[in-house]
Amino acid sequence: MCGIIGITGRHTVAPLLIDGLRRLEYRGYDSAGIATLVNGEIQRRRAEGKLINLDTLVEKRPIDGLVGIGHTRWATHGRPNEINAHPHADKNVVLVHNGIIENFQELRQELTDKGHHFETDTDTEAIVHLVSSFLTKGNSPQDSVSLTLSRLEGAFSLAILFAGYDGLIIGARRGSPLAVGYGECEMYLGSDAIALAPLTQNICYLEEGDWVELLPESAVIHDNNGTIVNRPICQSSVSEDPNNKGNFEHFMLKEIYEQPTVIGDTLNTLFNPWKRTVTLPELTFNLGKISRITIIACGTSFHAGLVAKYWFEKVSDVPVECDLASEFRYREARMPKDGLAIFVSQSGETADTLAALRYAKSKKQHTLALVNVAESSMAREADSVLLTLAGPEIGVASTKAFTTQLTVLACLVVATGITKRSINNKQAASYCRSLIEIPARVNDVLSHDQKISDLAREVAVAKDVLYLGRGTGFPIALEGALKLKEISYIHAEGYAAGEMKHGPIALIEDNVPVIVIAPSDELFEKTASNMQEVIARGGRVIFLSDKDGIKKLGRMAAATIEVPTVDSFVAPILYTIPVQLLAYHTALIKGSDVDQPRNLAKSVTVE
Ligand code: F6R
Repeated sequence: MCGIIGITGRHTVAPLLIDGLRRLEYRGYDSAGIATLVNGEIQRRRAEGKLINLDTLVEKRPIDGLVGIGHTRWATHGRPNEINAHPHADKNVVLVHNGIIENFQELRQELTDKGHHFETDTDTEAIVHLVSSFLTKGNSPQDSVSLTLSRLEGAFSLAILFAGYDGLIIGARRGSPLAVGYGECEMYLGSDAIALAPLTQNICYLEEGDWVELLPESAVIHDNNGTIVNRPICQSSVSEDPNNKGNFEHFMLKEIYEQPTVIGDTLNTLFNPWKRTVTLPELTFNLGKISRITIIACGTSFHAGLVAKYWFEKVSDVPVECDLASEFRYREARMPKDGLAIFVSQSGETADTLAALRYAKSKKQHTLALVNVAESSMAREADSVLLTLAGPEIGVASTKAFTTQLTVLACLVVATGITKRSINNKQAASYCRSLIEIPARVNDVLSHDQKISDLAREVAVAKDVLYLGRGTGFPIALEGALKLKEISYIHAEGYAAGEMKHGPIALIEDNVPVIVIAPSDELFEKTASNMQEVIARGGRVIFLSDKDGIKKLGRMAAATIEVPTVDSFVAPILYTIPVQLLAYHTALIKGSDVDQPRNLAKSVTVE
């Protein structure tokens, strides 16, 4: 969602703030802004659009100051223009905010009635006027913030400067993440450790309801009740400069190509190469005693959960439900005794998934977070954690996070099957062999990049594209369609191939490319029939299958992409790669902004 940063120390902060925002830009890029204090006076620069616009503005009209805050915005309330860009200010206070203030209308009315004048359409401005109203009544900045927090409803993280209080930043967290960084006579605030990576590795994550007073040489943390508390300082594992694209034109392509490595890294943490079997880290529950599994996630992570549903039910004989977090959290789901709830999330911060986790905990479920960010809220709140080792994912369209999620889920499925004795030793060994093979086979699929780039020309002129699959191929069809939509802006739908005849087949025309995902598994013949139905109605099929499948049906398709022959268990991981590449190359041809597609943000910390 939005990214926020704050720095108080000994250096001119404007360039440091902009550099921090560059690393946070993946969270939102509708506008950006910074504010500093110079001799106690508020200075501010804001620009609509990407950070580059702010950068150019600050070059033309530099600002001084040793203390400052910055923001990169994903708009929720108010159009993404300069007026609505953060930081928001009046003469007493200037602040940045990530999240949503749910009672802002009520606060706005109350403050307007008292004579406050609002300039923006944002929910954030209500916080400015609220803090300011407490300050003008003679309260200290600390008391003004504490009084303000007690009036706010919703989710937020904040960083606030006060006119006349050089050096002081107050940060607060409720619902949205906020990290404190400790430097040498310099202190920092950031939405995540990535923002602070080049400044410090010493990070403390504020807990729900905490607020913090930062001065260059100290950080005093208060909990929800105002009591001063100590929170552990840890060493951040983020060291890589996430702005480094290497030789790749886009982060998304770099991240697609990193998949053999990061899948291998992830497998290494879950696999014993000597015993050639899965060895999970210690969990807080007994896999053998789980009565039912509920998998909850959003977007791409939800698609990983859907694949796992098929896997769990087939391999480990345990009933599974897979839910969209935004639906799950409000539908008063029944959760049985000894149930396990798994939360799949790249960021570990997605508001709906986090709320679902809290709901599951209240229903006495065992909770397991499967996340890519070890320090994330979900990792801290769940009973147990399994990590994907994808590294920072900067491209807004998720790629390597998804395949590493599938890798972890596959290992969990096999471990559950072994523990529950739903698979015998021979079957377990066969699943394990197929897992070890994945990095090399993913590498093989990447060798089709040029061919997929050629096929993308046909897809790029289409108005609609359909993706079809059965079994675990169905979630991959959903994922292929999502990738295409989000970065090329072409309308795409993923369907269970068997559903075509129940309606969507009416869409088939020769200008609608149909991507068929059909590994040679036990459902191949069924998918093949659905493909014939599409072809009989003039549909142009791009057929993704293995050597045998292409031998049987390749000639009927307009084009084929051959995916290596593997155990059907791991096929969904491999078939993901061509749909990612197809979306990437189509977006490239269409000239859209691949890494920062319109209207999106990487981490969705509002509902
Ligand atoms: C799509 C994409 C999103 C995320 C979703 C959940 O490419 O990235 O659909 O998968 O916003 O985010 P996480 O996994 O961080 O919970």
